[in-house]
Amino acid sequence: MRKKIVAGNWKMNKTASDAESLVRALREELANFREADVVLCPPFTDLATVSRLIQGTHLDLGAQNMHYEKSGAFTGEISADMLRDLYCHYVILGHSERRQYFHEDDALVNRKVKAALASSLRPIVCVGETLEERDAGRVEEVVSTQVKGSLAGLSGKELLDTIVAYEPVWAIGTGRTATSDQAEDVHALIRKTLAEMASEAVAQGVRIQYGGSVKPGNAKELFSMPDIDGGLIGGASLDAHSFAEIVRAAAR
Ligand code: PGA
Repeated sequence: MRKKIVAGNWKMNKTASDAESLVRALREELANFREADVVLCPPFTDLATVSRLIQGTHLDLGAQNMHYEKSGAFTGEISADMLRDLYCHYVILGHSERRQYFHEDDALVNRKVKAALASSLRPIVCVGETLEERDAGRVEEVVSTQVKGSLAGLSGKELLDTIVAYEPVWAIGTGRTATSDQAEDVHALIRKTLAEMASEAVAQGVRIQYGGSVKPGNAKELFSMPDIDGGLIGGASLDAHSFAEIVRAAAR
């Protein structure tokens, strides 16, 4: 049985003092919540603050990006070991904003995924089609190519430590969510692709999140679909009450 996982992607929002208020509020909202894994992914500059504030709680920590090299002359970059050192256990990789604005492709994402796993970080690997691709009937081709490319060469065990996030680009920050049926179709396709890459057993064990305008009002329906194992939440994760409501929607 896959345990649901809800992650908050704060993107480039919240100073350290904003982060402190948000996490304090979340600690209260979610004090007794154990039914799903909950991961906060603040910007790099907030990781140490959030890490300290979630000690002893059931909240977990993730980053939004990392470099694939262990260390060296890569000005402005952050390594997996630096994240581990702050008790980070997850890292979002290949988000569509990274793909679009920073030209990350599947080959680069794949290097990062392997580096994350080698440092015992669980990658949350984002895939998803643009509106043009959907309108052109290319969802299956685009998403399966991204899954195969981003996760190429991973062992079954590594795949099981990986979380896939299906985030249709047209639904991110637009208020336009995929319907639960549209999302479920693509989640089932991703699971089929994983079965082809590894085995049916592995595919059944990998958690696949949905992301793109998830709100308290639509989370329950999305999370009730058979292949949707939680969510990657952007805008609504910046408010403690909204995020907590979404997390509670992941309880069975
Ligand atoms: P959104 O973002 O919830 O604001 O649509 C989701 C994401 O980009 O991870």
